[in-house]
Amino acid sequence: MRIGIVYFIIILITLVGCNNNTSQTNSVPVELSKDAHSYANINEVRIEHMSLDLSADFEKKILEGKVRLDINNWTGSNKLVLDSRKLSINEIILNNGKQASFELGEDKEPFGQPLTIAIEQNTKSVTIDYATSSNSDALQWLNPSQTFGKEHPFLFSQSQAILARTWIPCQDGPGVKFTYDATIKTDPNLMVLMSAKNGTKKNSEGVYTFEMDQPVSSYLMAITIGDLEFQSTGRNSGVYAEPAMLSKSVWELESMQSMIDSAEALYGEYAWGQYDVVILPPSFPFGGMENPRLTFATPTIISGDRSLVSLIAHELAHSWSGNLVTNETWNDFWLNEGFTVYFEQRIMEKVYGSEYEKMLTKLGMGDLEHTIKKLNKKGKPEETHLYLNLDGRDPDDGLTDVAYEKGRFFLQTVEATVGRERFDKFLKQYFTTNAFKPMNTKRFIGYLKDNLLQDPEELKKVRIDEWVYGPGIPSNVPEIYSQELDRVELAISQFNNKRKTASELNTANYTTHHWLYFLRGLKNLELYKMNDLDNTFNFTKTGNSEIACDWFKHCIDTDYKEAFPALEVFLISVGRRKFLQPLYEKLAETEENRDWAKAVYEKARPGYHSVSYNTIDEILK
Ligand code: BES
Ligand code: ZN
Repeated sequence: MRIGIVYFIIILITLVGCNNNTSQTNSVPVELSKDAHSYANINEVRIEHMSLDLSADFEKKILEGKVRLDINNWTGSNKLVLDSRKLSINEIILNNGKQASFELGEDKEPFGQPLTIAIEQNTKSVTIDYATSSNSDALQWLNPSQTFGKEHPFLFSQSQAILARTWIPCQDGPGVKFTYDATIKTDPNLMVLMSAKNGTKKNSEGVYTFEMDQPVSSYLMAITIGDLEFQSTGRNSGVYAEPAMLSKSVWELESMQSMIDSAEALYGEYAWGQYDVVILPPSFPFGGMENPRLTFATPTIISGDRSLVSLIAHELAHSWSGNLVTNETWNDFWLNEGFTVYFEQRIMEKVYGSEYEKMLTKLGMGDLEHTIKKLNKKGKPEETHLYLNLDGRDPDDGLTDVAYEKGRFFLQTVEATVGRERFDKFLKQYFTTNAFKPMNTKRFIGYLKDNLLQDPEELKKVRIDEWVYGPGIPSNVPEIYSQELDRVELAISQFNNKRKTASELNTANYTTHHWLYFLRGLKNLELYKMNDLDNTFNFTKTGNSEIACDWFKHCIDTDYKEAFPALEVFLISVGRRKFLQPLYEKLAETEENRDWAKAVYEKARPGYHSVSYNTIDEILK
């Protein structure tokens, strides 16, 4: 009898739940700004949930299977337009069991093809039977030789900015958010992870199921498959890596849990439950990617001295700025990255102290000044604005230090104007109020004026329009003072002015950040000085990827050929675009080096992800 009542209640709850769902499905969602990088008709029909059922075929290098898209067709539209690229679509079925007719439009670089599906007024879902192509831009299929273990193949995805459409037909713009679940089948020797709830053990059948019950944008859809193992690093954090990398990675990322705790103390509870990092093979084209619950990271941060972990603070910070409050279009990209660099800086200050943070911030200012100079020289000062107009262009073009560093310094300027206490309260409220919603530049400025800068004096002091819609760095930017880097400044001038040789410089207790500042300050280098530096500090042999990259830039500029074999190894073994791009650009400057670079690139290219080889193809074409 009791059991009967319990069943009755469960059935009742389920029915009420379903009813709620249907009424929700017909609710009118918030209008989204036009997204110039997506074909989707997002103001007529919107994806609310995605259910993936895919198999990974490492022989053919494809994912194939089905995706069911649960939609809200509140306008009663007769078509659902999705983004797709290099996908083969076999069949599409509506929830009433009928086959839907569909059409793939013309393929345009880099946007792909609109997939237009005929739906009915009351269509609730479409199920698409499809396969990716073996050259999906998001997916990189690695041979065992490209992994640390050398025994098993590997797969990872990179969906940001507009590559999700190359492995899932979807509304591929950041303004649309949906929940998802997935079943992925693979070789039983391998483990599958996604930007969702993950297990910690391999499944003997090779079948993995996932649940992401908080809405995310398509650029946060992520998958990786490989010989991976897990180790916990605290209450709600852990690391996945290949067995050969796991203990090193766990050691390197020892501060992860305190980063999470510090972030929560600043801007409110971590919304996603667990926070893990997966250390990928070296061809991962970025430093890190903030896939929800599971940051994807380059192994080049595993330097053996914990000096590059600010990257984890950055990706973690995206759990608020970006993953909760999301740039509505790629023109608003600075809202994701600028806020994240500011937040990263605050986490680093809390965990490592203010002097450490000052060094990072000053290095960031150096990067920004360099980027602005370069963009001005190219005659593109409008690309130094925070708000960009990338319509018709690849959103990748907006991926410069401007969004990151100018964005950070703008927020620092606001902080300096109103004081830290008020600014922190404002930011915390901003993340809470706008969680799981898209944000655009105009609305953010309105929110800032309404909730923080009500005093006209303060408002004037900040100079919002100059920062957001104007070029360069406005003069009200707060000054950064770092005692440690001042010490380096002295060494730089002594070496630049030939007053001291390398071994006479006081470099005691230099950390990675001292070295980076030192290398970036060196001018008028000649071969004998390069020899002196290398003999004294062994830069060519450094195991630190950031130091190596800055050193190799000087090697190319000065034609310091002793380092070229090491440079070749670096270019072949590392696929991170941030390192590759400036090095190939410098090599392309002289005919001799260009030929050398082309020969190296021929060997290296098959190991790069599309994000990297598309950029390098342009440089060496
Ligand atoms: N979300 C970005 C990476 C990204 C941006 C990929 C735009 C594709 C398009 C990520 O959070 C990031 O900024 N990564 C940086 C590291 C960071 C410490 C500045 C990177 O990969 O270098
Ligand atoms: Zn970022």
